[in-house]
Amino acid sequence: MKNLETTTKTEPVVLKDGRRVGIRLYRPADKEGLISMYAGLSQEALRWSMPPYNRQRIERWTSNLENTIALIAHDKNRIVGHLQISIGTSPRFREMGDLFVYIHQEYQNVGLGAALMSQAIALARERRLHRVELTVVADNHRAIRLYEKVGFQREGLKRENYLGEDGKYHDEIIMGILL
Ligand SMILES: CC(C)(COP(=O)(O)OP(=O)(O)OC[C@H]1O[C@@H](n2cnc3c(N)ncnc32)[C@H](O)[C@@H]1OP(=O)(O)O)[C@@H](O)C(=O)NCCC(=O)NCCS
Repeated sequence: MKNLETTTKTEPVVLKDGRRVGIRLYRPADKEGLISMYAGLSQEALRWSMPPYNRQRIERWTSNLENTIALIAHDKNRIVGHLQISIGTSPRFREMGDLFVYIHQEYQNVGLGAALMSQAIALARERRLHRVELTVVADNHRAIRLYEKVGFQREGLKRENYLGEDGKYHDEIIMGILL
């Protein structure tokens, strides 16, 4: 396996509003910063998510880094974005990944999601994954636009599979990319 550090840029990404943000692989020392980022997400940022994003959950996410591609975006020392691909371990899902991504609300809609997704896909290719998939609430138009922009396709629909804060059921879309 190649050194995964080769694909993550050391140069900061310049966002659409001119701010510069670094992207690198997650390290165990980032855990508290990651917990803080999730604790600081606004209600709007969490609107189409699966809360709670508490310490226990983040410790679970980061406890098996061997089968994970985890990236963080940081503005100086503050973590402002997180993307994770969990790689299947059973023989039939060995080269398949499940992806999710969260950007802090102060950094949304200025290209950081696109930068994280592009780097994650490059790392997944380096690691010779066969496919990556994700599930997104059909009303999360910004996320769907981002996923399509980086090459994910709509593969399926789970009808009324997400109970929103509005008390209504919403469809979810399964999206995937073959690498
Ligand atoms: C969804 C999310 C990851 C996207 O990351 P981001 O950094 O905000 O996205 P980017 O700025 O890279 O790209 C967003 C794209 O969607 C477009 N967009 C923004 N709002 C939109 C809307 N309401 N409808 C359609 N497209 C929209 C933008 O114009 C941009 O496309 P462009 O570059 O072609 O102009 C981020 O906003 C986020 O973390 N949201 C909250 C958590 C979440 O929903 N996570 C995904 C769970 S599946």
